[in-house]
Amino acid sequence: MRIGIIGSGNVGGTLGTGFARAGHEVVFGFRDPASPGAASLLGRAPGTRAATVAEAAASSTVLVLATPYEAAEAALAPAGDLSGKILLDATNPIAPGLAGVSSPAGSSGAEEIAKLARGARVVKIFNTVGFEVMANPTFLAGARPATMLYAGDDTSAKEVAHGLAAGLGFDPVDLGPLAAARLLEPFALVWIRLALVCGHGRETAFLYLHR
Ligand SMILES: NC(=O)c1ccc[n+]([C@@H]2O[C@H](COP(=O)([O-])OP(=O)(O)OC[C@H]3O[C@@H](n4cnc5c(N)ncnc54)[C@H](OP(=O)(O)O)[C@@H]3O)[C@@H](O)[C@H]2O)c1
Repeated sequence: MRIGIIGSGNVGGTLGTGFARAGHEVVFGFRDPASPGAASLLGRAPGTRAATVAEAAASSTVLVLATPYEAAEAALAPAGDLSGKILLDATNPIAPGLAGVSSPAGSSGAEEIAKLARGARVVKIFNTVGFEVMANPTFLAGARPATMLYAGDDTSAKEVAHGLAAGLGFDPVDLGPLAAARLLEPFALVWIRLALVCGHGRETAFLYLHR
């Protein structure tokens, strides 16, 4: 699968590295592909390449959006027409002071991003644990994969997202339509509070149990 990363920082860099290790063709999109940061990431992610956001988007069928939520509109602008592409939205619209989410009432960041990324099939995923867990999603000596909840309106896009998350080592669980991102985005604050405020640390994840 050809995967382009828009926002190649902690989350984008980790996911792209994992997808490349799983055998996918990964292009990291940078504002400046010749920057030292791009060279450093490529050194840690064998088999990947750096490009502009426009090139990464044009050459990929799946895109990961992992910029700050507030930067999403500017970051998506050079990506151009995204018709038919799958957009995995990992962003979190977090209000200052972790007071809640900053997306408009009656919507979610993911739904707002879907309006910006016209034609793209958006799946909310990879927003509910820290990037360290994305690098290694298994717990209890490798016995239990962390749960990765996702939401989206397009069934085939969700199947792709599910497969990519499983390929990283997660147990992916479908939460329903993209509007369920209204639950997933504040849920990220639960992880953030546990990890960073309550003192459990960043090697923390959720396990959804069912019979
Ligand atoms: N950190 C986590 O553990 C975690 C977990 C789940 C979800 N998230 C969410 O994931 C997103 C990314 O978090 P992060 O920790 O990976 O942030 P980060 O390390 O700061 O990376 C953000 C990336 O976005 C890029 N960027 C910013 N504006 C851009 C633009 N206009 N065009 C192209 N690229 C742009 C930055 O590029 P430059 O280097 O050029 O500035 C940087 O590479 C956030 O929405 C966050 O809430 C984070």
